[in-house]
Amino acid sequence: MLKRKKQPTEPSKPMPLHVAVIMDGNGRWAKARGLPREEGHRQGVENVKKIVECAQSLDLRYLTLYAFSVENWNRPKHEVNALMRLLESFLKSQATDLVEKKIRFRVIGRLQDMPKRVGKLLEKTIEETKDFDQWTLSLALNYGSRTEMLDAVQSYAKAVQRGSEDPDALNWETLQSYLYTGNMPDPDLVIRTSGEHRISNFLLMQSAYAEYYFARENWPDFGPECFRRAIDAYCARERRFGLTGEQIQSPSS
Ligand code: IPE
Ligand code: IPE
Ligand code: MG
Repeated sequence: MLKRKKQPTEPSKPMPLHVAVIMDGNGRWAKARGLPREEGHRQGVENVKKIVECAQSLDLRYLTLYAFSVENWNRPKHEVNALMRLLESFLKSQATDLVEKKIRFRVIGRLQDMPKRVGKLLEKTIEETKDFDQWTLSLALNYGSRTEMLDAVQSYAKAVQRGSEDPDALNWETLQSYLYTGNMPDPDLVIRTSGEHRISNFLLMQSAYAEYYFARENWPDFGPECFRRAIDAYCARERRFGLTGEQIQSPSS
């Protein structure tokens, strides 16, 4: 497992290894400017590029962005189509960049149910970047924690049927390896923009001990400066994982 880096200004507080973001508020950003919601999503994609760059400059090893939930299919068809088109053009324009920056690209979610054209591009980008191991950008697409749990339990049950898992030996480590995030550390910090205080079916199990940071800015306005502020806020907190503050401050006590 990778060791967390110390934050330069706070020698005792480590940097997060994995930051996950619920990128919310594109629609409201557009509405406030009298623009169509699609324009908010377009600006949201521009911000994704800036935040990916910022995360890499801070040497954050894992960045996971919630881009499309299983529930988002129920939005008006033209909005869903616009989001898929934006995803397609993002992948076309960023694939080379990701390779140049040595960023591994992953998807968490039911990739098999994405529209064919987007699915092919996603698979191509995953394949082209799979050998990089320093930085990982994951997009949560067609993602929902409950669907993820269903998929995990189903795969596990099939493994039991095949005889390759023993249900009496089941523990969290084994079950979590069946999640989409099985090969990633849990998020240390989950950020949600747009002033909403909810989780919306995102990384529910993985965030059991994550720190949450809720920002008022809508996603297109949540630029690198805001992102750094969130990281600073994280670094100023004390995580306890069920222990006492004293145990955390002097681990030998
Ligand atoms: C987040 O912005 C992007 C997606 C969910 C795809 P929204 O589109 O949810 O923006 P609001 O919440 O309506 O402002
Ligand atoms: C969560 O935002 C999903 C993404 C950011 C992709 P939503 O806008 O869909 O969440 P709710 O509906 O406000 O809970
Ligand atoms: Mg929203």
